[in-house]
Amino acid sequence: MTPKILVIDDDASLRRVVEYNLQEAGYQVLSATGGEEGLRLFAEESPSLVITDMKMPGMDGMQVLKTVKERSPETLVIMITAFGTVDVAVDAMKAGAYDYITKPFNRDELRLTVAKALQLVGLKAENRRLKDEIVDRADYSTIVGSSKAMERVFDIVHKVADTEASVLITGESGTGKELVARSIHYHSSRRAAPFVAINCAAIPRDLLESELFGHVRGAFTGAIKDKTGKFQLADGGTLFLDEVGEIPLELQPKLLRALQEKVVEPVGGTKSFKLDVRVVAATNLDIEKALADAAFREDLYYRLAVIPIHLPPLRERRDDIALLLRYFCGKRGASMVTFDSSAITALSSYRWPGNVRELENLVERLLIMRGSDTITMDDLPEKVCAGDPANIVSPSKRGVINLPDEGYSLEQLEREVVVEALERNFWNQTAAARFLRIPRHTLIYRMEKYEVVAPEK
Ligand SMILES: Nc1ncnc2c1ncn2[C@@H]1O[C@H](COP(=O)(O)OP(=O)(O)OP(=O)(O)O)[C@@H](O)[C@H]1O
Ligand SMILES: [Mg+2]
Repeated sequence: MTPKILVIDDDASLRRVVEYNLQEAGYQVLSATGGEEGLRLFAEESPSLVITDMKMPGMDGMQVLKTVKERSPETLVIMITAFGTVDVAVDAMKAGAYDYITKPFNRDELRLTVAKALQLVGLKAENRRLKDEIVDRADYSTIVGSSKAMERVFDIVHKVADTEASVLITGESGTGKELVARSIHYHSSRRAAPFVAINCAAIPRDLLESELFGHVRGAFTGAIKDKTGKFQLADGGTLFLDEVGEIPLELQPKLLRALQEKVVEPVGGTKSFKLDVRVVAATNLDIEKALADAAFREDLYYRLAVIPIHLPPLRERRDDIALLLRYFCGKRGASMVTFDSSAITALSSYRWPGNVRELENLVERLLIMRGSDTITMDDLPEKVCAGDPANIVSPSKRGVINLPDEGYSLEQLEREVVVEALERNFWNQTAAARFLRIPRHTLIYRMEKYEVVAPEK
């Protein structure tokens, strides 16, 4: 893109010389005969660089500089000053001018100053882009997960973030629904506007309507002044309707209307407001069941769930557990803390009814209570150490068997299972057979078949 330069000078001949020289050097030049006209062009054309004469009738260069810097601190301004007015130039530099050139100047001086300035503009833009990217990555890494299930979630988040589509996030408590909702907002072009969350389950039924849509003074007893609803607060941004499954049936048509027509009407009011709000909703209720029970309107459900995202419980993505442990330690400035294999095994087989939230709380507790930087099974609460029969889950659910995409030999798998059972039981065949729930002679037969031999003591 050809850089755009705005030249402001009341002296027509000088202006023309500057214009000509810069055009010849390949720049796009806009010119103005005074401060007011210059600022108008500045607003319309957003040039990358402004060159302004200092002394002009009406609005002078100093005022132009200040206004430009106020509106767009990143834009560079070069001042043209009269010979012998160095102190004025110094003032301009203090006020944020990038450089100055003293009249009379030659062509090369002008071009060199401009080229240097534009190089800086380019660098600044590049820097900003890099910074955005870093923030982007940092944000991305706050939703931790490398399991297939989470990669699918990341993929959807990125695809839908910058669309207007409503998203419905489902998942058990503590699986990260709010985190994902924030991430969608952050990755959208609405990121600079507010992310407003409302927990529909935490607000008494009769107040929910006015929380969502606002009310006017006197709408009901206790409405002593106008109240702005969450929809309006989220204008331009994202509204997160948490626990949306708890919205009372009688309020659902109004919500549907707000979503469809993008207008809200405060309780007791006669005026409706047009709004630009992106809605992300979440629920840990079995919404299908609510639909079947007619506790949730189907039309509202389809409106909310244009893009459904399901967050699987942690016990169904055990690959993420070790990663999350590391992440939460790091987050608390304890990256030197490690978990030994007994602890990892126990933590990986635990059922995690409270999902990631439970894991994060446990890490916090372990970090406070720990005696050393290595956490072992002894440090873990009893329930995690598989003491609780409710926590015992079948191996396939536990994710013990993690087959590669390209397939795997059953014989090889069986051999590995036999070896592991023996190793875990210190090569005691009776114990290993019991562990595998097979008779001892079957174990011996498999050991022979796969040529498994106990290591020499
Ligand atoms: N994948 C993840 N990576 C990092 N932190 C996570 C992840 N998932 C959840 N968390 C953290 O776990 C906690 C619970 O997450 P969040 O509040 O998003 O869950 P939720 O699904 O909204 O739960 P609830 O249904 O109880 O409201 C938060 O502190 C969140 O930052
Ligand atoms: Mg939540």
